[in-house]
Amino acid sequence: MTILDERFGEFEKLQSEEKIAYFEKDGRLYDMIISQQLNRQVLEDLYRISNRLRAVAKSKAGSMFLQNLLCHKRAMLYFTQPSSRTFLSFENACHILGMRTSEIRDTSVSSEVKGETFDDSLRTFSSYTDLIIMRHHGQNIAERAAWLLNTWSNRPVPIINGGSGSDQHPTQAILDVYTLLRSFEDQGGLDGKTVLMCGDLRRGRTVRSLSYLMKDFEDVRIIYAAPKAFQMKEDVCAFLEKHKIRYQVETEALEKVLPDADAIYMTRIQDEHDTEPGESSRTDISKFKLAPADMAKLRPNAVIMHPFPRRDEIDVSIDRDPRAMYWRQERNGMWTRGALIAYIFRVEDQIMNY
Ligand code: CP
Repeated sequence: MTILDERFGEFEKLQSEEKIAYFEKDGRLYDMIISQQLNRQVLEDLYRISNRLRAVAKSKAGSMFLQNLLCHKRAMLYFTQPSSRTFLSFENACHILGMRTSEIRDTSVSSEVKGETFDDSLRTFSSYTDLIIMRHHGQNIAERAAWLLNTWSNRPVPIINGGSGSDQHPTQAILDVYTLLRSFEDQGGLDGKTVLMCGDLRRGRTVRSLSYLMKDFEDVRIIYAAPKAFQMKEDVCAFLEKHKIRYQVETEALEKVLPDADAIYMTRIQDEHDTEPGESSRTDISKFKLAPADMAKLRPNAVIMHPFPRRDEIDVSIDRDPRAMYWRQERNGMWTRGALIAYIFRVEDQIMNY
């Protein structure tokens, strides 16, 4: 064990609330690591910045203005776990703001293959760039990256977690809340709504991160629909109880709870986290899919979401239903990630005042 492992071990024992201060600078969000860092004020700020960013980017003059904002900054995209949406939306968000990007998407082409540690690799990336956006299979690894650069390195740069293990995917949760807020803009917002999450809740980092954000809204109710083997883990349920967020568990069939939901958030089975071959296929998930016949059971103003990639959780014929929000949700990722980067580098006022 290295001295860094020892020190990080002490940090890891802290409660999530106690870790938040390590990810802030001057009392403001600096690294984006876990959803628990966010609060309603920041979410609403990001909502407004995202809306303004997408409006400004529409014109050539606006686009040129945006490209000047962070043209003096460089970002590193360190994505060693597969990704289409998170990678592309971050890369394009950086480019919209004028940031140049470099990337490593496979450790077999970085010096990690020669035995370089994760810690040394991270410090190397920070030698060349001003922001590290990372996706990694390791649990809590983004947390380690931020802790390392903030406490041990003489060149700290902000870290954004683009998905760590089966633990957290906070920027997905930001774009999901943005999509919910936009969808319910004329229906009183997200307060008082029922959000149904379905699929592999046990290992799905998107539903975990989204659940944490529900603490920032009034009287939201969550329904977790999944077979027992894929139900939400105890740590998230304990968080909901602590924050007095109502939740209900459905283990028999999605159709039983569909009429109760304002938002239906479908997810795929995360079999990349199986600990033995065929583990996921031993559980029958056939009653936790959305079929065309289910559409009549949904509320007229309900929204259907999915972080994607999808397999067969949502029949493709549903894509044409006006309640299907997932393609717009995907695009929202670029604007919200751009807003987050602008917020971290404190250029959001310039976007808002353009
Ligand atoms: N939602 C999401 O994280 O998609 P990707 O895995 O394609 O980035």
